[in-house]
Amino acid sequence: EVLEADGRILLPGFVDLHTHLREPGREDTETIESGSAAAALGGYTAVFAMANTYPVADTSVVTDHVWRRGQEVGLVDVHPVGAVTVGLAGKQLAEMGTMAAGEGRVRIFSDDGHCVYDPLIMRRALEYAKSLGVLIAQHAEEPRLTQGAVAHEGPNAARLGLAGWPRAAEESIVARDALLARDAGARVHICHASTAGTVELVKWTKAQGISITAEVTPHHLLLDDSRLETYDAVNKVNPPLREASDAQALRKALADGVIDCVATDHAPHAEQEKCCEFAAARPGMLGLETALSIIVETLVAPGLLDWRGVAKVMSENPARIAGLDDQGRPIAVGEPANLTLIDPDASWTVRARELASISDNTPYEAMTLPAKVAATMLRGRITARDGVVTTALAGRVGQ
Ligand code: DOR
Ligand code: ZN
Ligand code: ZN
Repeated sequence: EVLEADGRILLPGFVDLHTHLREPGREDTETIESGSAAAALGGYTAVFAMANTYPVADTSVVTDHVWRRGQEVGLVDVHPVGAVTVGLAGKQLAEMGTMAAGEGRVRIFSDDGHCVYDPLIMRRALEYAKSLGVLIAQHAEEPRLTQGAVAHEGPNAARLGLAGWPRAAEESIVARDALLARDAGARVHICHASTAGTVELVKWTKAQGISITAEVTPHHLLLDDSRLETYDAVNKVNPPLREASDAQALRKALADGVIDCVATDHAPHAEQEKCCEFAAARPGMLGLETALSIIVETLVAPGLLDWRGVAKVMSENPARIAGLDDQGRPIAVGEPANLTLIDPDASWTVRARELASISDNTPYEAMTLPAKVAATMLRGRITARDGVVTTALAGRVGQ
């Protein structure tokens, strides 16, 4: 198919290492079909669907299903993330080998959102993952420091009477697992880095020659805990929005390559899970359809990152971290391409009801953001163009 690319920016298709698609189990908030549409509209050609579904993705029955359903929809490659343990927060390692060898070819394992594995389980998981050539993605939360916590521990939370989530809850696990990865000779990936201290720890770990990679979310790059003032639970997320100085350190770390990539942590929730009191609301926010615009706003516009850099943090680096050989690299002549075409001069106003996600929990409602995905191409077929997903592949996914 042909794309008119005059005055546009052409990048390799985006790869999201961290997406919650809620299928199986919570199809009232997102499905593989609706999430795939959101991903295609956001410029993605591959997403990694997190394991905290119902049932949990801790067997190849679930992970193979997620992969197959994604292929059936056909808008984006939906790579299943397997759970590290049997059940989230389990005490026993899951059959990672079976999931890795299954049709879904699981390459990343995580117990995202429920990471209470003790250091011994983590050590064994890293060794097992190393032997399989797969990656452990670490949610980086010490649960004994976050019990009851709902917002970043700092002056804003204190003033509003919200229980605080300390930076050390994240940083202590990052440090611990850097050392466990060193001892195991394994790779570890840090999910949603949120503090300036985590940046320093990742920098130190890399300088030691330990195999660590890290991602940052668009919301931790743009937003901070001054947003708490409204008590609007749309701003509740794990890890929490930190202080402006953390966001600034994260932007610099992404530009400098200390943090390797952007990952959305796209986390749809039902309206009733977000409209209640702040403390009772579910954590998480939408991210797939707004990620590029937030990167342009926070890094490209201020001159911290050029378009070549965007290709690295949105496509090449995440593809390399996940071990995808068909994404995020230069395309040979005649080869079907995964591409994202961007209109760098466009601007648009976010309206939750106009997003493809079933859920509406975007923190960017009514904000006008720069740049827009003009088209996305998966293996030579257009999956989204001018804000509309094509029906060419799926035959059924419409807007
Ligand atoms: O905010 C979050 N939401 N953080 C997580 O770690 C899990 C996610 C979810 O599943 O909603
Ligand atoms: Zn997480
Ligand atoms: Zn997550």
